Amino acid sequence: MTTRSPSRTQVGIVGAGPAGLLLATLLSRAGVDAVVLESRSRGYVEQRVRAGVLEAPTVELLREAGVAGRLDREGMAHQGISLRFATDTAAPQTDHRIDFADLVGRGIVVYGQQEVVKDLIADRVDSRDEPVEFEVSDVAVHDIATDAPSITYTAADGSARTLRCDVIAGCDGSHSVCRDAFPTDALQIAERIYPFGWLGVLAKAAPTQDELVYANHDRGFALYSMRSPEVTRLYLQVPADENAGDWSSSRIWDELGTRLACEGFTMNTGEFLEKPSVTGMRSMVAEPMRHGRLFLAGDAAHIVPPTGAKGMNLAIADVRVLADALTTFFDGGGETGLDEYSATCLRRVWRAEHFSWWMTSMLHRFDESDPNGDAFGRALQLSQLRYTATSRAAATSLAENYVGLPHGSV
Ligand code: FAD
Ligand code: DHB
Repeated sequence: MTTRSPSRTQVGIVGAGPAGLLLATLLSRAGVDAVVLESRSRGYVEQRVRAGVLEAPTVELLREAGVAGRLDREGMAHQGISLRFATDTAAPQTDHRIDFADLVGRGIVVYGQQEVVKDLIADRVDSRDEPVEFEVSDVAVHDIATDAPSITYTAADGSARTLRCDVIAGCDGSHSVCRDAFPTDALQIAERIYPFGWLGVLAKAAPTQDELVYANHDRGFALYSMRSPEVTRLYLQVPADENAGDWSSSRIWDELGTRLACEGFTMNTGEFLEKPSVTGMRSMVAEPMRHGRLFLAGDAAHIVPPTGAKGMNLAIADVRVLADALTTFFDGGGETGLDEYSATCLRRVWRAEHFSWWMTSMLHRFDESDPNGDAFGRALQLSQLRYTATSRAAATSLAENYVGLPHGSV
């Protein structure tokens, strides 16, 4: 951990998730100073298990930033995914592969979000001795509508600090204090809450499939994913208010076995490497993503349900736009990029919001009381699954969204 704690910087960044850390890296490469403030410890953020799918444009950007060495050695390149479902009510579940390489000529890389975070911290703190302050508290942003904003916080040693900046980047995730600092009439929130969540487990069990499987079973959605040749990552749709403590390991493995059942499919089981937990699912967009000299990026500005694997990728797409705009600004090239930041990001955000909502709607089981869960809704869902699995045009649409539209293309 760095001991330096400057009281003045060009960009004050709140949050050391993928958005804050990559923004700091991109700015550093462009010669712009930044300080990253993080409420958790380094150990905590490096172990926090979250997303696992990197889009093609994300991988390219991490390579351009010079932080993809371990990703290129250890990441698992995938050229497709399978949709697993029964084409008719009486039929058994079968796999319908979406072949990314054939359809769009690109794939994804499976590499845990916490590995990206570790790589970014190692580059910034260990290799370059650039500032990240961990375990800060009481973070508050001030004078955001002026040219001289500041951040006050309590450092890990208990001292009260002020960081004066030219610009503040709010990369502080879904419970963002930076977003809360917008005047209420300056922010519009569009939101949708889903009546289910995902129970996620990380298991010491060698994957038996080379690619991810998204299963729509009568009992609910299940996802088969992985982290390495020894570790499987699995998810089950559960009610939004489910208590993970009600799920014993045998209940979890039995339910996964039922929902993922398919001719020829076997699954290795193994001990859980962390406590199973339930994540609620929602879509949220806060507009605009800028007020004065405060810019929001990543989950601070928008949330997607995880079904499209877009959360971390969107955070990374935001900070590419922000880093370019800030670099131009500090090079004396004007504020046009900063003025366009929110609108530019929101085009990609809404594309990902639609894709994530669409994948979620197609793959989850809705209660019969839900408008999507009656016989009509279920028949529409099956029709969409069959169409996506059999039409090259429909499969291509899924593939190009899943592997990630090129940055700047939407
Ligand atoms: P974050 O990664 O949340 O980083 C924000 C950082 O800010 C955190 O380190 C936080 O500790 C810090 N912070 C917060 N408040 C303050 C403060 N006041 N002061 C200082 N620091 C602060 N996406 C997928 O695609 N697939 C998944 O399976 C998936 N699973 C997820 C599971 C969970 C439990 C969560 C919460 C998210 C999941 N996501 C998933 C979404 C994905 O992980 C996020 O989209 C991604 O982390 C966004 O990155 P970010 O940098 O914007 O925010
Ligand atoms: C993983 C998470 C997702 O949300 C997803 O859509 C695919 C994979 C994962 O954690 O491996």
